[in-house]
Amino acid sequence: MSDRPAPLAPELDALLATRREGCGMPRALYQSDALYEEELARIWRGGWLFAGFAVEIPNAGDFLTLTVGATPILVLRDDGGAVRAFHNVCRHRGTQLCRKDSGHLRAIVCPYHSWTYSRQGDLIACQGMHEGVDKSALGLKPVHAEVVAGLIYISLAPTPPAFDGLRARFAAAARPQGFDRARIAKTMDYEVESNWKLVWENNRECYHCTPCHPQYVKANFDIYEEEFASDAIRQKMAASVARTQSKWAAQGISITHTHGGLAPFPDPDRDLWYAADRTVLVDGFETESTDGTRVAPLMGDYPDADVGVLRMRSMPNFWVHGSCDHAVAARLTPAGARRTRVRGYWLVHQDAREGVDYQLDRMLPFWHLTNEQDWEICKWQQKGVDSSGYEPGPLSQRKEYNVDAFIRWYLKQMRRA
Ligand code: FES
Ligand SMILES: [Fe+2]
Repeated sequence: MSDRPAPLAPELDALLATRREGCGMPRALYQSDALYEEELARIWRGGWLFAGFAVEIPNAGDFLTLTVGATPILVLRDDGGAVRAFHNVCRHRGTQLCRKDSGHLRAIVCPYHSWTYSRQGDLIACQGMHEGVDKSALGLKPVHAEVVAGLIYISLAPTPPAFDGLRARFAAAARPQGFDRARIAKTMDYEVESNWKLVWENNRECYHCTPCHPQYVKANFDIYEEEFASDAIRQKMAASVARTQSKWAAQGISITHTHGGLAPFPDPDRDLWYAADRTVLVDGFETESTDGTRVAPLMGDYPDADVGVLRMRSMPNFWVHGSCDHAVAARLTPAGARRTRVRGYWLVHQDAREGVDYQLDRMLPFWHLTNEQDWEICKWQQKGVDSSGYEPGPLSQRKEYNVDAFIRWYLKQMRRA
């Protein structure tokens, strides 16, 4: 089977070519079913996807599932303790095997005719088949899986792209956060009524933060030139950077993003589809909580609260903000040209006890509110974009450079032959 996607159909290529430089994308790129299918093939089944956290499946037989477009995936801990992934599809007549989001299984038993697979994915029983079935040829179809710093990545590509760069960067950046020693305090599933690209465009700029996220901007320095040019703001950020930097540089907790505006990402020119940086919070905020005070015990290796915030992200479906005491992540999966599923994760130290060391009603609001504000924006943007009155407007070079970078990254993936 060739790894190379067939050339894009001329009419879809022509559609992509209608994007005017420096502007948002034309309407069809957010609503075409044919283009969406090509995105699934080229981007979602061509690269690496965040699937979940290794601590969600600590024991042999623990599993989680996700669905990428119309492709259900099973991720499970095998008998040897390794994380494996399979197509969640029976080799008999194709029924989806596991239907729950997560759970534990001794063996994978198809609910239709009871074909049974081991936790290694081998077909071990198909009672009633008297035709001399070659079981060795009918194991579950494997999906590539990697674990780095407690994050599970999968790839549906026959030969996945290199993973080494992400592995090195994320292993170093995430070590102090301790995702591999965390507890999932809460997950929340959101159905966003918009194309997945609108969700990313929204994520890649903070131009909207002041009007749309009143509490987020109190904690974060996601500000742009005008604000950052002010001596008062610049000095405030520099003081926070200097304080944190001098304390922790030797421990791998150095601040790498030290100025106003979001860190550049993605980088289509250098083919950078993952990034990690650490920046400071506004003075008075120890963590991304509503009042800035800690909402859980310190995570990972953090020696105290003064560690700023770790931000990691990978195209096309993952981002996380890690504070000193908790981390909040998002996993995107596309569910149609106008629908995106987002799973939100709240993580704390593995020993933290709910109701004793942390209270969900203190921990959740900051990001739950920010998430809901964003999904609402995306929904209304999709409605506007769907209108015959929509025409892509200009992007701010100073505030929406990452939206432009995302669009260029997207176009590059789609045109890759
Ligand atoms: S479809 Fe799975 S056993 Fe028949
Ligand atoms: Fe936002």
